[in-house]
Amino acid sequence: MRILMVASEAAPFAKTGGLADVTAALPRALARLGHAVDLVMPRYGGITIGEPIGRITVPLGRVVADAMVYAETQAGVRTVFLDHPGFYHRDGLYGADGADYPDNPERFAYLSRGALEWASGADVPYDVIHVHDWQAGLVPVFLREFTDTPAFRQAATIFTIHNLAYQGIFDASWLPRLGLSDSLMRVDALEYWNQISLLKGGIMFSRALTTVSRRYAEEIQTPEFGNGFDGILRSRSADLVGIRNGIDDTVWDPTSDPHLPEAFDASCLERKLASKRMVLARFGLPVDDTTLQRPLIGLISRLVDQKGFDLIAALRAQLPTLDASFVLLGTGDTRYEEFWLSLAARHPERIAAHIGFDEGTAHLIEGGADLFLMPSRFEPCGLNQMYSLRYGTIPVVHATGGLYDTVRDYDATTRSGTGFTFDEYSPDTLLRTLRRALEVFQDADAWRHMQLAGMREDFSWDASAREYVTMYQRGRP
Ligand code: ADP
Ligand code: GLC
Repeated sequence: MRILMVASEAAPFAKTGGLADVTAALPRALARLGHAVDLVMPRYGGITIGEPIGRITVPLGRVVADAMVYAETQAGVRTVFLDHPGFYHRDGLYGADGADYPDNPERFAYLSRGALEWASGADVPYDVIHVHDWQAGLVPVFLREFTDTPAFRQAATIFTIHNLAYQGIFDASWLPRLGLSDSLMRVDALEYWNQISLLKGGIMFSRALTTVSRRYAEEIQTPEFGNGFDGILRSRSADLVGIRNGIDDTVWDPTSDPHLPEAFDASCLERKLASKRMVLARFGLPVDDTTLQRPLIGLISRLVDQKGFDLIAALRAQLPTLDASFVLLGTGDTRYEEFWLSLAARHPERIAAHIGFDEGTAHLIEGGADLFLMPSRFEPCGLNQMYSLRYGTIPVVHATGGLYDTVRDYDATTRSGTGFTFDEYSPDTLLRTLRRALEVFQDADAWRHMQLAGMREDFSWDASAREYVTMYQRGRP
C-alpha cells in the first residue's frame, strides 16, 4: 500500500512526547511489511535535514502562501517537510512560555492543507491517508475538495487519537480564515459547544478511527474519560479500534544503547549498576554504597496533571521517608517544576530533579533506575513503562489506559507479574503501592524474577503495524 501520513511531530526531527516516537516507528514498521509511507510534517526551525524537492502554493482563506518542500528518506520512509518559516521557525512546536501560539489553527490548517496540495501531485495514487491528532484533524475535511484528484480517489482515511485531552478547540470565526465554509458549524461536523474542534473534524470525517491502546478505546467512550467527546465517539464506536503502540526496539535496546555506560541484557542484569552509578552522578546524588544499594525510582515525564503529579505532590511529606532515592527528568507546568526543585533542595542526598528535555538522560534513567514511577490519572498508551520493562526497570503505574494493558501487577503468591499497579487514583493507594514495591525489592530473587518476566514481553511494532494494515482495509471509501 501507498500511505500518506500527516503529523505535527516525528522523532528524531521534532519531539515533545510519545506522538513523535510513534510517527517515527510506525512508518518504519509498515515499511518492513512492504508498504511505502510518505510522512508530511512541518520543517520547524532547527531542522536542517532533507533535500529541496519543490514548492507548493497553499490557499488558506483569503491568503495564499507558498512553502518550500524538503524530503529525506531513511529506513524506507520518506519524510516530507513543509517549510513555512513564518509559521514554523519558532521557539516551540505549539507555544512558548506556557502559552499556545494564537495562530495555531492557521499553522496546522496549513500543514493539513499543504500536505494534500503536495501529495495531490503524486504519479501513483495513495491507498491510505492516515493522520494523527487534532493538528492533522482537518486533513479529511480538506480532502473533500480533492475528491476528484486521482492521487486520492481510492484512498482510505484513518484518524488516530493519541490523547483525547487535546481537542484543538478554537473560535468559530476561524472557519473562513482557514478556507472552510461556515456550514461546517454543525453538530455532525466541526461544531463543539459553539466553537470548532479540529479533533472533531478528524473524528467525523475519517472512515476509520484508532486510538493507542485497547483499554483507552473503551475508556474514552465513557463520561469519566471522554472529556466531553464520549457521545461523539460512541456514535462512531463501530469504526473505532484500540491498537497498542509498540516501541522502537532498535532505539530502546539495553544491549546497544549508546547512552548507557555498559550494555546489558537479561543474562547480565548486574551491569545495570554502571548506569545507576552514572545517573546518580549526573543528578548530583551521592555515589556511595548506601545509595547504590537503595532502590532508585526514576520519572521521565511532561509535568502535567495527566501524569499523576497531583498525587505525588500530595505525598510531599511521605516520599522522603521511603527507603528510596528519586530522580526526575521533566518539563511542563511551573508549579510542578517548582515542586520538584524544592523537594530536591530539601533532600539533596535522596531526591534530584532536572528540568529540561534530554533524550540521552531519559535513556540513562531507564538503564539505571530500579523502578519507574508513572501514576498517570489517564494514559492513552504510554511508552516509558514499556521502555522500563525492556530495561529491567520495574514500573509502578496507575492501572489505566495503556498502562493497564501493558503492566501486569505482581502477585507474591504466584510470583507472577511485571510491575506494580493500583486501581484507585488516590495518594494513599499510590503510597501503599510504592511500599509494596520497595518491600519486594528487598527479596533479590523475586525482584530478578520480575525483571526477567518484563524483559521477555514483546512490545515490538510488527504486530501493531499489522493491525493498522487491517484498519487501512476497513477505512476504504
Ligand atoms: P506523552 O506522549 O503523553 O508525553 P508517552 O509515555 O507516550 O507520554 O511518551 C513520552 C515520550 O517523551 C517518551 O519517549 C519519553 O522518554 C519522552 N520524554 C518525556 N519527557 C521527557 C524529557 N523531559 N526528556 C526526554 N524525554 C522525555
Ligand atoms: C500521547 C499520550 C500517550 C501516548 C502517546 C503516543 O501523548 O499521552 O499515552 O503513548 O500519545 O501515542
